[in-house]
Amino acid sequence: AVDVSKLLSKTGLVTFDPGFNSTAACASEITYIDGDAGILRYRGYPIDQLAEKSSFLEVSYLLIYGELPTQAQLDSFTNRISRHTLLHEDLKRFFDGFPRDAHPMPVLSSAVSALSTFYQDSLDPFDEDAVELSTVRLLAKVFTIAAYAYKKSVGQPFLYPDNSLGLVENFLRMTFGFPAEPYDIDPDFARALDTLLILHADHEQNCSTSTVRLVGSSQANLFASISAGINALFGPLHGGANQAVLEMLQRIRDVEEGNVDAFVERVKNKEKGARLMGFGHRVYKNYDPRARIVKQSADEVLKKLGVSDPLLDIAKALEEKALADDYFVERKLYPNVDFYTGVIYRAMGFPTKMFTVLFALGRLPGWIAHWREMMNDPQNKIGRPRQLYTGPAERDYLSMEKR
Ligand code: ACO
Repeated sequence: AVDVSKLLSKTGLVTFDPGFNSTAACASEITYIDGDAGILRYRGYPIDQLAEKSSFLEVSYLLIYGELPTQAQLDSFTNRISRHTLLHEDLKRFFDGFPRDAHPMPVLSSAVSALSTFYQDSLDPFDEDAVELSTVRLLAKVFTIAAYAYKKSVGQPFLYPDNSLGLVENFLRMTFGFPAEPYDIDPDFARALDTLLILHADHEQNCSTSTVRLVGSSQANLFASISAGINALFGPLHGGANQAVLEMLQRIRDVEEGNVDAFVERVKNKEKGARLMGFGHRVYKNYDPRARIVKQSADEVLKKLGVSDPLLDIAKALEEKALADDYFVERKLYPNVDFYTGVIYRAMGFPTKMFTVLFALGRLPGWIAHWREMMNDPQNKIGRPRQLYTGPAERDYLSMEKR
């Protein structure tokens, strides 16, 4: 093991904080979390009130501009976004280059990165009008890109956006509809997805948001920074957990014959690094308030869609078992937002690979808000952590024959 105190004595005064457990890299006015009490607020508004009463676009406005919009402000914001939902025809051709079975997350991050080439007015991060335009373009186009990533994966034709529809309705139509065929949007379905997007919209300095800030701290533009954030979200310990949860539930059902107890024992014994995916959180040491809302929503959505899913029963049994077990109690491991979302997405008809894309759609306004806050922060500096060097001391170059 590395003797950290010895190393620190050589580097001068630096903190050694792997995983940034106790390092604040910035001050932020956007989101408040009290992990011990299970509290989450966007700009002061409790998440449960926003989930119940607000809409995803209203929450996006709140996160990005700091206040709930008036009706006129919301109308103008919605209108501006709906005028930017189209993708450039050349960008559409981008999708042809990916293999059909490509995971849609790298497809999404690549297409978002490519927006910098189509909109070169985005390159100056201090041009306020351009930042405004990039904000609106992102919010509009990422939904179209996500729907096309899905269409590509199932080999179906792309649909042009229908700007008479709301953002979420348009996304559902572009995802599940067919050209020249009417697509009936179920308002309950659209509302449930809208609520899930609200629940994911921001979560202060999580891995992907910190990535957006770190990349943006070099004054990289909004598209480049958010593309990096999407890649950070892809990992199974972060946004990729929603896909991992569903795969875990399916494995318990199909391979382990629904034996929840045996699975929990394997997790406790850390067999092959087994983890109960969708459980645990760096900040929440109590029930994740979002998970509470999602669990309720899972029951409602499945009932409305008339679906009974054994995976939901396995999830509930796993939760019950874990919450009564000392291993999880001592480590303060509770379900996080990802634990039940997959069951809902599945009932809605999304393939497992799309789950993390849906998370990205929700997190988008949070990433934008953080990037903009950072660019306007006079204390902003390029992010550049220190390290403790543990490699060899100085040694002389060895010629090839002496190695
Ligand atoms: N299942 C089993 N044990 C766990 C789990 C889990 N899901 N999470 C943490 N632990 C255990 C660890 O093994 C460790 O035990 P030890 O003290 O005996 O070594 C202890 O709890 C502390 O865990 P850490 O990994 O140090 O906690 P950290 O804060 O670094 O990790 C994380 C947080 C990554 C979320 C972790 O709980 C995890 O891997 N969860 C599963 C993946 C997941 O659901 N990710 C989504 C997070 S929320 C989001 O991004 C939306």
